Amino acid sequence: MARSEQNKLPSHVAIIMDGNGRWARRRGLPRFLGHQQGVKALKKAVRFASDQGIQSLTVYAFSTENWQRPKEEVSFLLDLMHKTFVEEIDELHQEGVRIVLVGDRSNLSGDILQLWQNAEGLTQDNTGLTLNVAFNYGGRQELLHVAKVLAQRAAVGDLDPAQIDESMVNDLLYTKGSPDPDLIIRTGGEQRLSNFLLWQSAYSELYVTDVLWPDFNEEHFASALDDFGQRERRFGRVGKKE
Ligand code: IPE
Ligand code: IPE
Ligand code: MG
Repeated sequence: MARSEQNKLPSHVAIIMDGNGRWARRRGLPRFLGHQQGVKALKKAVRFASDQGIQSLTVYAFSTENWQRPKEEVSFLLDLMHKTFVEEIDELHQEGVRIVLVGDRSNLSGDILQLWQNAEGLTQDNTGLTLNVAFNYGGRQELLHVAKVLAQRAAVGDLDPAQIDESMVNDLLYTKGSPDPDLIIRTGGEQRLSNFLLWQSAYSELYVTDVLWPDFNEEHFASALDDFGQRERRFGRVGKKE
């Protein structure tokens, strides 16, 4: 039976694209070549998600902690992002993909912010796949941002703290507008979230594969979706099989 017939396709898939460095090292290559190959895997994943009819895809591209990597690696990653935007934006736009930056905009340099704003502006009315790119993203930093906005509103008397609820928090998250991820895939084998979508992942199904991100292809993605299709999500209730 095709996945679509099972009616258990996740609406929102999030991916922790990990393992680029190890992919390169295993071949005796410098880490940056792993990042370059990683972009190819990302293109495949975006196309596949779009073809499958997934509504939102969130990809973890650069965490707030990744700034602590060697200067050369950080600047390579920024250049690669820039180059990828220039090369891919028109095609993504034609395919109806809507691009959203999910991350802290406050400390990004003017030219990087401009790049994102251009991509978001160009694609904002597209109705195909929503591609959330988690860049300069940290789940704790995102929650601090929410806390500060709510505290400021309360301090000026615009908000009664007793009224704070989940939907108010959701509306202030960088991911506002996307449902919580149904499925989070992590490549590279590590069984951790690494500060990714801490609030949003409360009831996400987790799928970890040892496949390194540059090797991740359509078949691997399909296996993750099949695995998701067989899970029973309970959200704290009694299961249907009970
Ligand atoms: C993920 O691959 C890409 C980024 C974090 C930017 P890594 O660079 O973390 O690769 P490994 O985990 O060292 O193999
Ligand atoms: C998570 O990978 C961040 C991204 C994939 C962008 P890391 O390689 O930074 O995570 P840790 O250090 O293994 O936890
Ligand atoms: Mg890593």
